[in-house]
Amino acid sequence: MLAIREAARSMGPGALSESGLRDHVFPLFSRVLERGRESGEIYLANHSLGRPMDAVEADVREGLGYWYDHLGNAWDAWMPEHDAHRARIAAVIGCGRADCVVPKTSAAQGLRAVLNAIPGEGPISVVSTRGEFDSIDSVLKMHHHRGRARVAWAEPDERGRFEADDLVRAIGDLPSGAGPKLVVVSAVYFVTGQVVEGLDRVIAAAHERGAIVVVDAYHAAGAVPMSFDDLGADFMIGGNYKYTRGGPGACWLCIHPRHLREAGTPGAADLATTDTGWFALADPFSYSRTDEPRLAAGGDAWLEATPPVLAYYQARAGLELTLALGIERLRAYNLRQQTMLTDALRAHGIGPLDDKPRGAFVPIATADGPAAVAALRARGVDADARPCPSGSRWVVRFCPDVLTTSDELARAAEIIASVLGPG
Ligand SMILES: Cc1ncc(COP(=O)(O)O)c(C=O)c1O
Repeated sequence: MLAIREAARSMGPGALSESGLRDHVFPLFSRVLERGRESGEIYLANHSLGRPMDAVEADVREGLGYWYDHLGNAWDAWMPEHDAHRARIAAVIGCGRADCVVPKTSAAQGLRAVLNAIPGEGPISVVSTRGEFDSIDSVLKMHHHRGRARVAWAEPDERGRFEADDLVRAIGDLPSGAGPKLVVVSAVYFVTGQVVEGLDRVIAAAHERGAIVVVDAYHAAGAVPMSFDDLGADFMIGGNYKYTRGGPGACWLCIHPRHLREAGTPGAADLATTDTGWFALADPFSYSRTDEPRLAAGGDAWLEATPPVLAYYQARAGLELTLALGIERLRAYNLRQQTMLTDALRAHGIGPLDDKPRGAFVPIATADGPAAVAALRARGVDADARPCPSGSRWVVRFCPDVLTTSDELARAAEIIASVLGPG
């Protein structure tokens, strides 16, 4: 962690520069950069799987070391890391209380914890969109299928976008009675990269209708500056697989502090999840039992069973780097890289999906995504494609990160133009 902080300090306080990154940050990624040199591949799939820092292996070894050296007492070292992990994620998403963040192994697990926390009789009336990630989509569909939810799906416009006004209209169609209601939307859409402008209005409309809101921030956290506290959503879900380069299994659910309570037994009208376990108890290590569940105070009431502690070591370096470099500066650098790429592509007659605010990747429409991705790979560009939520088109996604050089972007533009260009 010291090396990460020292590298960030050496870069100085101003905007991130390629030369500064090369001198101070690239050395923290010697393994993936060596792989890149050997393969000659230009990695532009950072929106999918973030590239790991060298430190990840030593960090996981550290976590394992406590097990080897201390056996059952390893928990004395593991629990502070669990809490430090929550604090890092809180800092990334602009949440003032670390205990609001509850580690999960997937974003879907976070959504399920919310679905079964909502009080009230009968199926939950849900508004969501056709643009949510497959994992979220399938959890909602399964709940609908089993009669536990009635999901109304907001359709995209012809460009595959979900505008705040349309979402507000869909929320207006939720039943007006007292039944349980939920809205599930993304902050940044995973196929098109659309940043949902006016998300605060969507949240306000949901609250007016008596619905709680889950925001999927997987494509925003660590890439786009945000304030969970100011946004006012009831819950946020996300993970470290992408922009904070923390690998699989290190996801989270964040709960707005207004839903946190004193220690004790939740009331019938409280948001209290049945995805629970002994770590959610007020005093787990007393092993005492009561007839009613006696939950911990604050966000700890949302913890579950024995946590997968090694994931916190695995995610540590990437979160530390994100925080040390600063999300504002990372965002500004990424936007400059996107402009470099789109300017070069435009010279070849290729434009991105649109010019509206987008997350960290450049989306380009094509008729056959898998064929485009295979052709790009064959020429040394690693990207991916997803079906567009509207129509039969695909979107190929290209995401540079701090390791992507301007030379790589220029070369990638030539290759992308040869595969996706008009000629
Ligand atoms: C918007 C979004 N949400 C969630 C996920 C991952 O969900 P899970 O952790 O449930 O697999 C992804 C992964 O690509 C995503 O893009």
